[in-house]
Amino acid sequence: MGFPVVLGIESSCDETGAGLVRGGRLLGHAVASSMDEHARYGGVVPEIAARAHVHSFTPVVQLALEQAGLRARDIDAVAVTTGPGLSGALQVGLAGAKALAYTLDVPLYGVHHLAGHVAADTLEHGPLPNPCMVLIVSGGHTSLLLVRDLARDPIQHLGDTLDDAAGECFDKVARVFGLPYPGGPAIDRAARGGDAGAVPFPRPLTGPRDDPYAFSFSGLKTAAARWAERHAGSPLPVADGSAALQEAIADVLTRKAVAACRAHGVDTLVVVGGVAANSRVRSLAEQRCGEAGITLRVPPLKLCTDNGAMIAAVGDLLVRAGAEAAPLDVSIDPSAPL
Ligand code: KG4
Ligand code: ZN
Repeated sequence: MGFPVVLGIESSCDETGAGLVRGGRLLGHAVASSMDEHARYGGVVPEIAARAHVHSFTPVVQLALEQAGLRARDIDAVAVTTGPGLSGALQVGLAGAKALAYTLDVPLYGVHHLAGHVAADTLEHGPLPNPCMVLIVSGGHTSLLLVRDLARDPIQHLGDTLDDAAGECFDKVARVFGLPYPGGPAIDRAARGGDAGAVPFPRPLTGPRDDPYAFSFSGLKTAAARWAERHAGSPLPVADGSAALQEAIADVLTRKAVAACRAHGVDTLVVVGGVAANSRVRSLAEQRCGEAGITLRVPPLKLCTDNGAMIAAVGDLLVRAGAEAAPLDVSIDPSAPL
C-alpha cells in the first residue's frame, strides 16, 4: 500500500489555505488571501478574515485537489490548524475540516500553526535533521524554536518577541514612511537604492546581559518614527531609512539565531515565515551561517507565508508516525502554547 493522501487546512489569520501531501511530497495546494480587504485598516480585521474564510474554504479545497489531479474521495486524512490564531478564523477552518473528515470517514488531526511553519521546509528540502534550530519571523510571530522529531517530540520554545513581531515592525514603519501595506515587501523594494549605514537604528536586546532568545521591535519602530519626524517639512529619505531599518532587523534576527545554534550545538538553521522573504535577512543569514559552519534552510516564498501545504506536511508526519487522531468534537485553541 502507498502512503496516505493528507489534506491540510489553514485558516488562522487572513489566508485560507488547502494543500495535499503524500509521503512527504507536495501534490498540490491553493491559497486565497483577504489581505486586500484589510489593507485600508492597516492590519487584519478578525471579522472580515472569518467571513473571507467561509467564502473561500470550498473553492480553495477544490483548487488544491484539481492541482493535485485528485478527487475528494482520494483523501485519507484531514489535518487542520487548531491554533494559535484568530478565533473566528480558526473556527471556520476547523468546522470545514470536521465536515470533510466526517463525510469522507477519515481521521482528523489538529495541528499547531507554528509546527506547520516548521514543516513547510520539508516539502522542499526533505526531512529535517534532528535537532535543528528554527527562526519563525512573520507578521504575527518572532520565535526561536529548538525542534527534534516534529511528529513525536514537543517543540522547545526558546524565546519570542516581547512586543511587536518583526513583520509587524516592517508593516508599521512602512506606514510611517508612506509606503503601502503589507510594508515588508515595500520596505525591501525601497531599501534597494538606500544606504544601510545612513541611520544608526538601535539593535534591541543584543547586549551581554539581555535574554539571548528574546526579541523586541517596538523600540525600533519608535526610533524610525522619531527619525521620520525629524524630517518634517522636507522630503523623507525613504530609501536610506528603509535600508537602515531592514539592516537593523536582519542584524538582530540573524545574530540571535546563529548564537542560539552555537549555544545548543545545532548545525542547521531553518528560517520560515513571511519575513524570511526579506532580501537582507536572507543574505545576512547566508553570510553568518556560512561563517559559523551552519547549514541554512529557507523554504521557497510560497511555502514561507501561511498555507495549507505546511499543515498537510505535519499531518503527513503524524499519520506516518501512528499518532492518535483528534475526536470530532475537538475545539480550537486560539492561544495555544507550544
Ligand atoms: O507568514 P506571513 O505571511 O503571515 C503571518 O504573519 O503569519 O507573514 C507576513 C509578514 C508581513 O508582516 C509582511 O510585511 C512580511 O511578512 N513580509 C516581509 C517581506 N515579505 C513579507 N517583510 C520583510 N521583507 C519582505 N520581503
Ligand atoms: Zn503564520
